[in-house]
Amino acid sequence: KNISVIGVPMDLGQMRRGVDMGPSAIRYAGLLERLEAIGHTVTDLGDIQIDQPERVHTADTNLRNLDAVVKGSTALADQVKKVKTDGDFPLILGGDHSIAIGSLAGISSSYENLGVIWYDAHGDLNTGDTSPSGNIHGMPLAVSLGIGHEDLVNIHDYTPKVKPENIVIIGARSLDEGERVLIKERGIRVYTMHEVDRMGMTKVIEESIEYLKGRTDGVHLSLDLDGLDPNDAPGVGTPVIGGISYRESHLAMEMLAEADILTSAEFVEVNPILDEKNKTATVAVALVGSLFGEKLL
Ligand code: ARG
Ligand code: MN
Ligand code: MN
Ligand code: MN
Repeated sequence: KNISVIGVPMDLGQMRRGVDMGPSAIRYAGLLERLEAIGHTVTDLGDIQIDQPERVHTADTNLRNLDAVVKGSTALADQVKKVKTDGDFPLILGGDHSIAIGSLAGISSSYENLGVIWYDAHGDLNTGDTSPSGNIHGMPLAVSLGIGHEDLVNIHDYTPKVKPENIVIIGARSLDEGERVLIKERGIRVYTMHEVDRMGMTKVIEESIEYLKGRTDGVHLSLDLDGLDPNDAPGVGTPVIGGISYRESHLAMEMLAEADILTSAEFVEVNPILDEKNKTATVAVALVGSLFGEKLL
């Protein structure tokens, strides 16, 4: 594959400093070398410019740093769209999960029915009205469904970016009340940790692939490292115990690689300041390896 790597040093979608260093940490953990060793052609497009939090003034506390997030998301969407136009595979490195707003805005116009796998402890389905925190990293999936502040949902002048029936959430174990309502109302498919435990990751991914294959013409993987258990991925801003294991995650990536359904991917929420010796970025790179076809034998 021709893979274009885009870093997004975004830390305005939440309040823990350090997640803006995620792209550097992931590169430092050997991302490019790893992908090249598998045989892919990799172009590193560098980082999108994001405003510094010190310079950002927030009017609306339910949508913290709104204007700067809109600006950064638009710049990311522009870059991603270019990569899609060139026919390359966008691999986006976060940054907090608010970057998915820009990723999906840049990708989805190339598809009739873009599918999304949202691998996460959280639903990220809040709006300014339902959010308990005002942090936009808890809102990107709602925004992509066309639900939320108009400046966010209208990035690249179209909405929605995804249809509820084209989404699969995997690993959920922390949902707010408004998110539960939205999931039921819109019929979003969710494999919570209960289903992961009960069915096993094999079945969860088999079902997800079959479900998405029938209805989508492209699939974006949005992988929040906090989907994994904090023992395996400690360097995240909003850890939730009882998560998906390192092994289950590798299996998921390998099965997705085998099915060859993905057309773009992003790895988000790596926070080196909260990490243990770059463990979480190293896990991210190992998962990227499996996702792009790395095999032991
Ligand atoms: N649901 C919580 C909120 O809205 C936490 C969201 C965490 N999101 C994330 N991408 N880590 O604030
Ligand atoms: Mn910063
Ligand atoms: Mn999360
Ligand atoms: Mn998330």
